Amino acid sequence: MTTVTHVRLEHHEPGRLGIGEARPRISWHIVDAPADFAPHGAEIRVSRTLRGTTTESTHALDGSDQVLVDWPAAPLASREAVAVSVRVSDGEKWSDWSDAVTAEAGLLQADDWKAVPVGSADDPGEGPHRRPERVRREFTLDGPVTRARAYVTAHGVIELELNGQRVGDEELTPGWTSYTHRLRYATFDVTDQLRAGANCAGAWLGDGWWRGRLGFAGGLRDIYGDALGAIVQLEVELEDGTVQTIVTDSEWQAGSGPILMSDLYDGERYDAREEDAGWSTAGFDASEWSPVAVRDAGTPEMVAPSGPPLRVVETLSPVEVMDRGDGRFLLDFGQNHSGRLRIKASGPEGHTIRLRHAEVLVDGELCTEPLRTAEVTDEITLAGEDVDWSPRFTIHGYRFAEVSGWVGDLTPGDVVSEVIHSDMERLGWFATSDERIARLHENVVWSLRGNFVDIPTDCPQRDERLGWTGDIQVFAPTATFLYGVTGLLSSWLQDLAAEQDELDWVPPYVPYIEIPPFDAMTHDPLAVWGDVASLTPLVLFERTGDLALLRRQYESAKAWLASVEANAGDDRICADTEQLGDWLDPNAPAEDPTKAMTDRYLVATAYFAWAARRLSQTAAHLGEEADAERYAALADEVAAAYADRYISADGTVDGDSQTGYALTEAFDLWPSPEIREKGTTRLAALVDEADGRVSTGFAGTPVVTDALSRTGHLAEAYRMLECEEAPSWLYAVKNGGTTIWERWDSLKPDGTVNAGDMTSFNHYALGSIADWMHRVVAGIEAVEPGWKRIRFAPRPGGDLTSASATHVTPYGTASISWTLSDGEVHVSATVPVGATAVMDLPDGTVTELGHGTHEATFALTADGAL
Ligand code: BGC
Repeated sequence: MTTVTHVRLEHHEPGRLGIGEARPRISWHIVDAPADFAPHGAEIRVSRTLRGTTTESTHALDGSDQVLVDWPAAPLASREAVAVSVRVSDGEKWSDWSDAVTAEAGLLQADDWKAVPVGSADDPGEGPHRRPERVRREFTLDGPVTRARAYVTAHGVIELELNGQRVGDEELTPGWTSYTHRLRYATFDVTDQLRAGANCAGAWLGDGWWRGRLGFAGGLRDIYGDALGAIVQLEVELEDGTVQTIVTDSEWQAGSGPILMSDLYDGERYDAREEDAGWSTAGFDASEWSPVAVRDAGTPEMVAPSGPPLRVVETLSPVEVMDRGDGRFLLDFGQNHSGRLRIKASGPEGHTIRLRHAEVLVDGELCTEPLRTAEVTDEITLAGEDVDWSPRFTIHGYRFAEVSGWVGDLTPGDVVSEVIHSDMERLGWFATSDERIARLHENVVWSLRGNFVDIPTDCPQRDERLGWTGDIQVFAPTATFLYGVTGLLSSWLQDLAAEQDELDWVPPYVPYIEIPPFDAMTHDPLAVWGDVASLTPLVLFERTGDLALLRRQYESAKAWLASVEANAGDDRICADTEQLGDWLDPNAPAEDPTKAMTDRYLVATAYFAWAARRLSQTAAHLGEEADAERYAALADEVAAAYADRYISADGTVDGDSQTGYALTEAFDLWPSPEIREKGTTRLAALVDEADGRVSTGFAGTPVVTDALSRTGHLAEAYRMLECEEAPSWLYAVKNGGTTIWERWDSLKPDGTVNAGDMTSFNHYALGSIADWMHRVVAGIEAVEPGWKRIRFAPRPGGDLTSASATHVTPYGTASISWTLSDGEVHVSATVPVGATAVMDLPDGTVTELGHGTHEATFALTADGAL
């Protein structure tokens, strides 16, 4: 029976409190509809509650929209709660009403905020690690509580307690935004944590991104300020209808707690002897606490989250415990990930247990060189009592941990690892008969998880962890398939636009902080990296149908292209600019990843043409016809200049590198079909000569297999995919990698870690091949924005005997699977209601598909090739 499910508001998880949209757009899935069902209008029922009064309205919608449909009712007021259900009609019969999705508006007006930042009045002092303070306040509520909310943010990171109990399950609140422009807040339902009479609020603070160490080569501290501040606004509705508001202000007290230091890179030190039980309960003796100082709030916009919070999303137990004697144990969690340890320990008073972390072992011990200067060490000093402890405000990237100072046996369950990242909805899966390739895909998933830590970071372990623009630019197509990343990236792109506006430059990482050596950069437009401004909003639109996001980023996208255009000059070649080029091409010397085989200006000019082409498409989606024409003409001009400068009549692309050919093909830069034929044949020959080994870096890797598979060289694309020799994707898999490595040979064939000061085992950029695996190996891709139309085009090859992929599209679940047996390939594909599809098989059959599941079969040619 036709049923409406998966109702969502914007990109929020169901039940989200404190959303920032007064007119949240609505999406839903339709399932179990008969084959002849055609959506013919919908009704949206909105139940809204403000200050105890609930009203309901129903809104009729014509047509068949079901993705990000405009809010049909009056805008939400600050704090207004909504429950939204949907039913659909086929023109005759209505479905049942869906389950309601709930949400609640946050503080939508700047003057809703009364809380100000408060912290210790003591001089924070100098020195690498300063003890973070806690703040508290007791207050009386005049009657029973019917509803209470806590709006929470900080200068630093914060965890709130009410009456001795932790509030919510979010980690590292408020995450990292460009704090000078946008400060995000979190909203919690605290109704059950408050009561009539005496109450107490207490907040833990940590350095976080505000004043902790950021950047390499020692990095910088105090980037946003040297003082911490809690910003808490409690709004409590009482049974008699009155509202009591308790906010951080000069009435609060500050005191130090058991956290002696807390840093994202270096870890946390905790002294259990300094615990003062009851500090966040009423009646506690706070005579040693002092009045707080009220801090300058600055002028950032207070923003609600558009993506999910950080949470502990999974707990891993060690797969191996290695006893090294003297209370020292090495633990293998079997999976590289981001998170922290949780320990259940006991020992004498004053005894210290130390936790260290690393991604790999060398000679049976933690290899910490790749962490560079990040200490990544947590310590607890015991008070003589049993503890169940984990650090509060730090996060590490590791597979292995060393526990030292342990007293007695370490049994499974004593130490577990809490996996922490942005709590995104899983949307995509891939499977195949070749276990090595399935593991490669799993490694991509884990690298995404390890690096979506509120912002899209480059790596989760060393003294970096920055929002590098190039990394997410190349990985966004893969990321959008695997997880619901749009809310998170939407926030990050707003930070990017804010920074770009201020700097008149798209910085190489966002949030931008002036750390050496990047403070000395020329501010030339950096191809591949800065291109995130124009390319990524369009990718997000294509994968989600979010036109408002595309519109919101349009000025930023245009400003980016304008800067490239101005820099390139009249000849349209991006010469003489600072460029990172085909970063980490495996042929470049280990110490200079920019010295790639492919000319960096070729890469930049190819990207210039592509950014203009894609911006023209963006403009067309937005109805900006004049812009669309202008950018298309610019793209043509740049493509012609590129061909003139870099492509010979015999199809040779300057430098004769895999990346040069791949970019030329992927960005449609060939001057003629004949030259294209010659050039792509040369690419295939290069791959054959290399026995399938990869010689591409960040620029070429995302496009090289596509360039082969779409020009009749599928066999070479599979040859690359199945190659196990370095450099290749499976080299890392063969060598035990559980995430995607930064370098093709982060671990060298002789078992040593690639020297140099840049070797991470968890960088997602080279995992951008997974997008090709979804689209070409399994054979599923969106061909109209938001997956309104799907193309199933499986291209079996290599030694694979099956592959499948599933994606929860904005319309519902779409999937494909194929199996090869006895020379025949059997395909099964599912189209969600509301979408249409085309099945395009290698034997030339093209079939239109409506919703539902469809089967097809095609034969391999006699020689086994397709
Ligand atoms: C980061 C990269 C980044 C690159 C660019 C590295 O340190 O980890 O992933 O894109 O620098 O310079």
